[in-house]
Amino acid sequence: MPSGSRPRLLVTRKLPAAVEARILGSYEAELNADDSVMSRDEIVARADGKDGLLVTVADRIDGTLIAALPPSIHIIASFSVGYDHIDIEAAAARGLAATNTPDVLTDATADIALLLILGAARGAAAGMAAIREGSWKNWAPTGMLGTDVGGKRLGILGMGRIGRAVAKRARAFGMSIHYHNRHRLPPDQEGDAIYHSSVEGLFEVSDILSVHCASTPETRRLVNAQTLALMPEGAILVNTARGDIVDDDALIAALASGRLRAIGLDVFNNEPDIDPRYRTLPAAFLLPHLGSATLETRNAMGFRALDNLDAFFAGREAPDLITPHRRSTSSAS
Ligand code: 8YV
Repeated sequence: MPSGSRPRLLVTRKLPAAVEARILGSYEAELNADDSVMSRDEIVARADGKDGLLVTVADRIDGTLIAALPPSIHIIASFSVGYDHIDIEAAAARGLAATNTPDVLTDATADIALLLILGAARGAAAGMAAIREGSWKNWAPTGMLGTDVGGKRLGILGMGRIGRAVAKRARAFGMSIHYHNRHRLPPDQEGDAIYHSSVEGLFEVSDILSVHCASTPETRRLVNAQTLALMPEGAILVNTARGDIVDDDALIAALASGRLRAIGLDVFNNEPDIDPRYRTLPAAFLLPHLGSATLETRNAMGFRALDNLDAFFAGREAPDLITPHRRSTSSAS
């Protein structure tokens, strides 16, 4: 970047107006006014002459794309907390910095997890369909019976920021908290939650299981025929983490057979082309990846991504660095 000039940024998707206004105040930015999804080749072509990329979960920043980026690119800032869509090793190997947006979407995503838990437990998808189709004829003492969440054991798979925020909310609904995490939490964070050192141990006690771990090679398909078979009869499974943590065949079979009572999903394999069988299951409460989708939260995510970019281009360490970064002398000065 020539000294004295503003950093040049490619922003792959349309962002909230307040975020784009701040971008234009500090950067020579190419925005995406019509919010079209860019192919790998398009991102590479548009990255030409830019210093950084601001990307989202919907962009696949794989090793091939990273290898094809022009040498002027020094940083990839993601508008997301998850970064399984970025090949971090490939970025690090090229000396690129990469950042994410933790903290600011914790509450919004935890709220959606509770919505899924309640929606699944109370049969909200079937109820909404009855209203919309006009098939609701009268109130019936035994009609559309769900199950209480109060008094149930909530298993939290991955007790990071979002998992802990879900636990806080679930306690208020009278659920008891069980969790599995790579590391047991310190007592002040654990509170009354019961730690399970194995994934299997958690599935065995979870009347409701909520997935909050990151997508990694270790967690891929962790929800599968074997682990689902361990859950109590009539259990509920909810996912606001990533679709690839779930084996769709196994989850659909468990719901269709009645082994699971209900499921709630905000994330899917191969979004948005989800397995069509999900749409046919009345006990599946489904949302289109809305975890962080409030204006306040999306603004905060954009500002956090910009805090990272601003710090980097000012020659400081980006606060949410997810790559071990080797600063090159030509960058960010
Ligand atoms: C989601 C996300 O909305 O930032 C991310 O990585 O995917 C969030 O914005 C959430 O995890 C899905 O419920």
